[in-house]
Amino acid sequence: MNFQLTEEHLAVQEAARDFAQNDLLPGIIERDNAQQNNPALIQKMGELGFLGMMISPDYNGSGMDTLSYVLAMEEISKVDASSSVLMSVNNSLVAWGLEKYGSEEQKQKYLTKLATGEQIGAFCLSEPEAGSDATSQHTEAIDMGDYYLLNGNKNWITNGSSASVYLVIAQTDRSKGHRGINCLIVERGMEGFVVGKKEDKMGIRASDTHALSFTDVKVPKANRVGEDGFGFKFAMGTLNGGRIGIAAQALGIAAGALEFAVKYSKERKTFGKAICEHQAIAFKLADMETKIEAARMLVYKAAWLKDQGKDYSHASAMAKLYASEVAMEVTTEAVQIHGGYGYVKEYHVERLMRDAKITQIYEGTSEIQKIVISRGLLKD
Ligand code: CAA
Ligand code: FAD
Repeated sequence: MNFQLTEEHLAVQEAARDFAQNDLLPGIIERDNAQQNNPALIQKMGELGFLGMMISPDYNGSGMDTLSYVLAMEEISKVDASSSVLMSVNNSLVAWGLEKYGSEEQKQKYLTKLATGEQIGAFCLSEPEAGSDATSQHTEAIDMGDYYLLNGNKNWITNGSSASVYLVIAQTDRSKGHRGINCLIVERGMEGFVVGKKEDKMGIRASDTHALSFTDVKVPKANRVGEDGFGFKFAMGTLNGGRIGIAAQALGIAAGALEFAVKYSKERKTFGKAICEHQAIAFKLADMETKIEAARMLVYKAAWLKDQGKDYSHASAMAKLYASEVAMEVTTEAVQIHGGYGYVKEYHVERLMRDAKITQIYEGTSEIQKIVISRGLLKD
């Protein structure tokens, strides 16, 4: 067992940390207040290679392993979870999914641009009445010969207005259940496709989350990803990796909150000494660090399994479940350690606490991760 990061891993980690601290941290409070990301930052993220990290250089990607991606996600999420969710969806749900399951034509047309950030991708599974129960799709893609006629609504779509390429999961043959579902590539601007309401959220406020609607959208057959009926398997397959990305996001949010808490606890004095010298505060910090390190091990192991070509669905669910619970606990304690200052925006930890909450909900709630984990455990 080797816990040592390679030179390459350390270099990626440092590059992501520099980008997060120098580019993302300034203006973070304003972007959160305005519920608006800065397109120039996303462009820079792409130029630095953070939007196609695991994609082969043949398709303009950075050709890195999953652990590198996790390290970068962690550093960026320490500061800016709104940018890291864009990064996670683009990397692991859209670009990785297309490289793994897409046709050569789809890779040339879409992946080469997604990998550089020239175009941004969105992953559209959830619907107003189908979130956790993801096979209950109402959106329909009727087979019309050389195209699909797409009708329906999607909800909560990350990158809803910044994307140009949307992977839309839709039901083609209801009688076949989850084997009658397809994944279609829908382009921004296709007739009948409307980007709807932007959600006003508790956290990751600078991330654009939108409802989408599709009315008689004609999607060419060439835009179906994989064989007929492969859409649900596509969604589950990509989500296994996506959950590693969100687990890394949760880990980063927690680690960022701990950094702020340690610094503040050394500076703030009460009763004649720094608050970290009160054992109640020091023990909180000890618990926070221990939980973060345990989460880190689960996240890195899931990434390692994926890089080794082993089954990682069980490990990614455990990593996402645990890291997101830790993110919520640690950020709550970080606010407590800051006292009243923790409750105001200037000190950053209240934002991290608000951002932490979503990691227990999206890409499968904590309860859904427990379904995945327990089914895996009981299967054999
Ligand atoms: N990996 C691979 N295949 C999987 C799988 C996994 N993790 N989970 C299920 N499958 C396969 C099963 O093997 C089965 O295939 P076969 O019948 O051929 O064996 C098929 O999918 C159906 O599986 P189930 O019968 O287990 O389906 P179910 O209806 O009981 O639901 C579920 C399973 C795990 C609850 C699933 O519906 C689920 O994961 N729900 C959560 C949805 C989710 O995560 N949404 C996230 C949206 S994206 C997002 O949120 C992005 C963002 O915020 C940034
Ligand atoms: P429900 O499924 O209605 O669940 C409600 C509650 O019931 C939850 O606590 C859940 O855990 C629990 N529950 C449900 N079923 C069970 C069960 N069988 N056993 C035990 N408990 C259960 N989706 C996308 O497709 N793409 C995106 O880009 C995307 N981005 C998102 C961004 C944000 C900010 C948000 C808020 C959501 C996003 N989602 C996205 C949707 C997200 O994946 C869903 O919200 C999530 O899967 C839960 O679905 P739901 O909201 O319908 O809740």
